[in-house]
Parts: sequence; C-alpha cells; structure tokens
Amino acid sequence: MLSGKEIVLIISGGIAAYKSLDLIRRLKERGARVIPVMTNGAQEFITPLAVGALAAENVFTDLFDREAEQDVGHIRLARDHDLILIAPTTANLMAKMVHGIADDLATAVLLATDVPVLAAPAMNPKMWQNEATQRNVKTLTERGIALVGPASGEMAERGETGVGRMSEPLEIVAAAEALFRDRAARNGQLPLAGRHVLITSGPTHEPIDPVRYIANRSSGKQGHALAEAAYAAGARVTLVSGPVELPDPSSVDVVRVETAAEMMKAVETGLPADIAIMAAAVADWRMATEGTQKIKKDGSGKPPALEMRENPDILSTIGHHVSLRPELLIGFAAETQDLVKNARAKLERKNTDWIIANDVSPATGIMGGDANTIRLVSKSGVEDWPQMDKAEVARRIIARAAEALNG
Ligand code: C5P
Repeated sequence: MLSGKEIVLIISGGIAAYKSLDLIRRLKERGARVIPVMTNGAQEFITPLAVGALAAENVFTDLFDREAEQDVGHIRLARDHDLILIAPTTANLMAKMVHGIADDLATAVLLATDVPVLAAPAMNPKMWQNEATQRNVKTLTERGIALVGPASGEMAERGETGVGRMSEPLEIVAAAEALFRDRAARNGQLPLAGRHVLITSGPTHEPIDPVRYIANRSSGKQGHALAEAAYAAGARVTLVSGPVELPDPSSVDVVRVETAAEMMKAVETGLPADIAIMAAAVADWRMATEGTQKIKKDGSGKPPALEMRENPDILSTIGHHVSLRPELLIGFAAETQDLVKNARAKLERKNTDWIIANDVSPATGIMGGDANTIRLVSKSGVEDWPQMDKAEVARRIIARAAEALNG
C-alpha cells in the first residue's frame, strides 16, 4: 500500500529520533520513497549522514539552501508528495505549527503544504499532559492533521513512565497505510470493500526428523504482496503463511503454519471467502512417518531410504469443494518447462478460474527475487504480462480480480 508513495519524513529534535532510522527502513521495505527533512534539533541526536544513507536520498536541513531554493525547494517539498510524516514530533514543533511559525525548513514545509500530514508525537509525559500541548493537539486534529501515539511506557529519563513515548516504527507504518486506505475509501476507490480474500503464501516445511525438514526456495514475497494489495483494495484479508522472513503485512489476519497439513486446516478454517489466491509453494510430499529421533549414519555408507507420502492438494480440494469454493479461485503454477501447457492442465485438474503461471528456472531469478514475469491463464485465453516488481504484479492481479467479481 505504501509502494510507489512519496513520503516527506520530517525528523524533529527528540531522543526518539533514533527510532526514525528504523522507520526509514520499514517504509522503504514497503516500497515507499522517503525524502528526509531534519530540524537542527534532530541533528543533535542523529546525523544527516545516517538518515541519508538509509533513505538513499538527499537530506534537506536548510531553509536558505542556495541550491535547493533556486526552484523554491521548500514549496516543492511541501506539495509534490503523497504524505508528510513527522516522527518524532516534539511539543515545540506542534506549538509552532499551531501558530503558523515558519522559522526553519521543517516548519516552512508544514505551513506551505496541502498534502495529508501524519504526526507521531514524542515528549516527556509532563510536557504531553501540559494544557498548552493538549490544546495544540486539539487544534491540530481539528485542522485535519492525523496523529499516531504517543504510547505509554518508560521514558528515556531515568525512572519516568507515562504517556509520551513515540509509537514504534511498525505502528507508524500501519497508521500511514490506514491513512492512504481511508482516503481511497472516501474517494470510492476501494473495489473490494466488504469482500473477504484468503491468500496462501511462502513455502511449507515438512519435518524429516526433529532437526531436518524438506523445504523450497519460495520467499513469500508475491503472496504477501497480494495480501497487502487486497487490503489496500478494501478487502478483509486472511493470509495463511508458511515460514518466511517477511514482516506480517499490517491490518491483515495472519495465520502462521509450517506444514502442508497445517496449511490445509488453516485454509478450511479461513473460508468462506469471495476470492482465494493460493500463492504458496506447498511441498508435494511429506515423510510417511516423522521420526521422533534424529536419523544417524549407520556406518554402512548408504543413505537412509526416506519413505514419503503425497500431501493433500489444498487448491484442488477447495476447487472441487461443493460449498467452500470461492467465487473466484486463483492458483499459481511455478514451472521450469512447458509453462502454458502445464498451467492449462492445472486449471482444469484443480478447477480454478485462473492460473498465474511463472517460469521459475534459476536464470529468471523469480524465486526469491523482487521481480516477476507472469502469464495469466484463464478459460478464455493466455495473457503475457511484462516484467514488473512483485508489488505491482499483486496490485494488477487484485484489480483484475475485483473487476471479475464486480462484473
Ligand atoms: O501442482 P502444483 O504444485 O504446481 O500447483 C501449484 C498450485 O497449487 C499453487 O497455487 C499452489 O499453491 C497449489 N498447491 C496446493 N496444495 C498442494 C500443492 C499445490 O494448494 N499440495
């Protein structure tokens, strides 16, 4: 949902500024561009060098920067982006905003802006409770500025607790995502509002013995991106995920599983849904019996014979289910040969509406990578899509799914 969004991040001078470094990473991890602005106070806590390196952008610090102001840089910063995020927001900065003071770059940008502003306050609990601050908060909220936090907890000052801690970076990310979604909802741009979408993602792990397992190279990036895109399109989303290294998408109901059998159970529990997208790379086989002891070399030089059983096919089971089959059922086909032929056969055999086929030969770099080249195989034909990053592929699949559902 933050993918492709341009966010001006204003960092003001509080000890919580150290968390802004992680916030930059989190925003970028979700595909946002982060353009940092730092106040003088912020630079007492963290350096523009660190901020610029993490954001991979120029850091703006000076209202009277000769180069940036040649084309009235502060006005451009204030206008040409999707969101202004202030983290941390000090009591002082809020007071200046209330009075329209513009005595540095950050406050000039905030006075000149016409894009949404989200502020994450951070200050000592006494400063937060002070009537002056509380009035300022009220005024800013009435002016349409969104706030996230502050949270309650321990302060940097020894022994002090109370309300004033800056929200954690992931909570700030979730607040930014919710803000974009609310805006899209107001503009009537949420084609999956009121719908339930169930998605499987990642690999499964099938234990061999207590320390070993069968796995595959699926990263879960495509499945997780689909979950985010479905949420961004207004759906309630259940994401059933095998073991992955990815953060849980915010505001999505995530069910973590390990084996195909667990995934099957979680999918059945998660249904009914209007749309199900099975993007997980489910292991085809599991051990016939899972050993309770670690398998040891027996000295004969021969490897052990591993007896395996076929796993349940989740997609096919759901596809043929009389009552649980969603209106739109989408499977994936990761192939290294005869892509379209195999995808068509899968569509028939598993009774799906679409198969998203991709060539996962090692040379394509698709498995685990950030880009994907897919073919959308349906009963009516095959569409070749150009290479795109997985977030964009997800958005387009979700847009098409919404079209198919809404007629
Ligand atoms: O047959 P194949 O494994 O290539 O089919 C891939 C599609 O079937 C994917 O959508 C995958 O999530 C789904 N599948 C499943 N359960 C299995 C095997 C595959 O849901 N046991």
